[in-house]
Amino acid sequence: MASIFDEVIDRKNTASLKWDCCKQRFNSEDIIQMWVADMDFKSPDKITEAIIRRANHGVYGYTESSERLAKALVNWLAKRHQWVVDKSWIVHSPGVVTSVNIAILSFTNPGDKILVQTPIYYPFYSSIKDNQRVLVTNSLKNTSGFYEINFDDLEKKLANGVRMMIFCSPHNPIGRVWRQNELEKVAKLCKKHGVILVSDEIHSDIVYKGFKHIPIASLGEEILPNAVTLISPTKTFNLAGLCQSSVIIPNDQHRQVFNNTMNRIGAGMLNIFGLEAAEAAYSCCEEWLDELLSYLQNNLELIEKYFESHIPQIKIIKPEATYMVWLDCRELPLEMEKLKDFFTFKAGVGLNDGVTFGKEGFGFQRLNFACPKTLLIEGLERIKRAVTELSDKSLD
Ligand SMILES: Cc1ncc(COP(=O)(O)O)c(C=O)c1O
Repeated sequence: MASIFDEVIDRKNTASLKWDCCKQRFNSEDIIQMWVADMDFKSPDKITEAIIRRANHGVYGYTESSERLAKALVNWLAKRHQWVVDKSWIVHSPGVVTSVNIAILSFTNPGDKILVQTPIYYPFYSSIKDNQRVLVTNSLKNTSGFYEINFDDLEKKLANGVRMMIFCSPHNPIGRVWRQNELEKVAKLCKKHGVILVSDEIHSDIVYKGFKHIPIASLGEEILPNAVTLISPTKTFNLAGLCQSSVIIPNDQHRQVFNNTMNRIGAGMLNIFGLEAAEAAYSCCEEWLDELLSYLQNNLELIEKYFESHIPQIKIIKPEATYMVWLDCRELPLEMEKLKDFFTFKAGVGLNDGVTFGKEGFGFQRLNFACPKTLLIEGLERIKRAVTELSDKSLD
């Protein structure tokens, strides 16, 4: 049956980061873009209608917080994630990466240690280093394609003067949905060692059958004073260009400090259309999301079968959440330094090079499958052709 997500939309010349920077980023024009985490789908009509309604008002002055959005978000979190949030805990911000930086500036000082679990979404590295904080890494253990937290190493590091942990839940790029027992251990360790826990939950709505995202701050009263949760409708409803996110800070004093920093650096004013879109997303787009999840689930199953049958040299790390799949390419007969060029110039697909997520990503690539099925198949066929040619050559 045809789906609304089957429509192939030309995104070129729309100032799209994903589609309009082929030349600068990949040094090639004719590639299928399967990298940065946005989707090649239209957002729900209800969101477009809300934006048009606001645009028709015609006055676009300075815009601050939105009570309507806060209410919609409280309902969303209660319904989709069984997390009861007090409206007063919510701060709106122009983006999750901006919020990570504001949290760093608010709760740590230059020279303080901040821990991340690697491989990890790469802007976390620059947020830490560019603010003159000290990066501490807790490498995730990869056992036959299943990633887990090394808790012994985590505890050792948290006990050794770490001030903040930036947690990614669900995790980008490896796609894990952390189980309750894992979350409890992380929360307990942060509490024990007085570590501020910044939990980036931007991917929490894109979770596949059989898995359940649990907001770490929903685990109990004890974790609340330490927790700063970052969420956004931008991944879920494809709104990244509208620059909107929310931060949930139950600790009054921490919230005050966060707000002060946000205003000090001039990030306190918000995008009118971002607020309207987010409110519409959280209030009337659940049906659309359920359809999206089913489409993504089908794309993921297609990928799994395709790699197994046609490209067994590449192992997929099947994500439990997110619309990105982490590809283990270490068995390809190729020097791993040449992996990115291989996918760009031999296959003709634009992926994220694994090593940008940290040294643990060496030999891996990240593929974004939030695109119409026809485009996905074209991308997979391109990869298959290039890998077959490579394997044939290595046998010569
Ligand atoms: C884990 C994670 N955090 C944050 C972001 C970006 O958020 P924003 O665009 O709101 O800065 C992304 C985008 O891919 C992401 O994967």
